[in-house]
Amino acid sequence: MPSIVLIDGKVIPKLGFGVFQVPESATEAAVMSALEVGYRSIDTAAAYSNETEVGTAVRKSGLPRDEVYLTTKLWNADQGYDSTLRAFDASMERLGLDYLDLYLIHWPVAAADRYLDTFRAFQALKSQGRVGSIGVSNFKVEHLERVIGETGETPVLNQIELHPNLVQAQLRAFHAEHGIATEAWSPLGQGTVLKDPVIARIAQEAERTPAQVVIRWHIQLGNIVIPKSVTPSRIQENFDVFSFELTPDQMREITALDSGTRTGPHPDTFTVGLDV
Ligand SMILES: NC(=O)c1ccc[n+]([C@@H]2O[C@H](COP(=O)([O-])OP(=O)(O)OC[C@H]3O[C@@H](n4cnc5c(N)ncnc54)[C@H](OP(=O)(O)O)[C@@H]3O)[C@@H](O)[C@H]2O)c1
Repeated sequence: MPSIVLIDGKVIPKLGFGVFQVPESATEAAVMSALEVGYRSIDTAAAYSNETEVGTAVRKSGLPRDEVYLTTKLWNADQGYDSTLRAFDASMERLGLDYLDLYLIHWPVAAADRYLDTFRAFQALKSQGRVGSIGVSNFKVEHLERVIGETGETPVLNQIELHPNLVQAQLRAFHAEHGIATEAWSPLGQGTVLKDPVIARIAQEAERTPAQVVIRWHIQLGNIVIPKSVTPSRIQENFDVFSFELTPDQMREITALDSGTRTGPHPDTFTVGLDV
């Protein structure tokens, strides 16, 4: 599995498995299926209500802990220094782990102005050795600049909505300038981009499926990518993206599908869980 080295020296697989909207009852089977296929990175969150089942699947797989990269996220309601430390303990309890590879602030909720204290708590968890790497999700340039300026530490990664209809050129350029890894959420646009005729034609040319083409586009752009599926055949299909390459023209054509269209909430207005 190809991986990238984060600015803190830790290594993260380029392809992971996301479990947003996977019901608790289906999570263990989906994660087991992903681990059997070869995925070695799982992306969950306190807000997904399936951390317990993710942890169970990882333990039942029998894989050594250090062979599986686990990410979870701090929910909005828990932002703040002390509440972050408590929420971390609760997530680790549910996951059944004593070490987390990557902890992310799920949303900035800038109007509540607690993300700096939250990140300072993340720094404490990292210095205690309980978390390998600390990063953020859904942060805009202004939020990243503030974290870097006020805490003296650059988040290793920003997990953002990113797919062919939302290419995020400006944010990716800022990330590149600062050594921040870009991780793409809803990398398939929750399935919407798979119906695009340009993607369909390139899939035909490459003798691959539309999902494989889109995931491959992410990998070649340099993104970390975490597609979700509860369908075993798709879990397998989405993993088989390392034995072909898109041409520069195909890459350009897919990137040109950018329309600024989101499938999920906007970071400016998403404040669920926090009174602002
Ligand atoms: N940080 C954040 O705020 C945030 C927000 C959203 C998501 N995320 C993370 O990003 C992960 C991925 O995003 P997402 O779940 O929103 O959407 P996604 O991965 O872009 O798309 C998932 C949808 O595509 C379908 N699908 C998957 N593979 C397919 C294939 N090969 N062919 C056809 N359809 C396919 C799935 O259907 P089936 O499952 O029915 O097969 C599901 O409906 C999440 O699971 C989560 O870990 C993070």
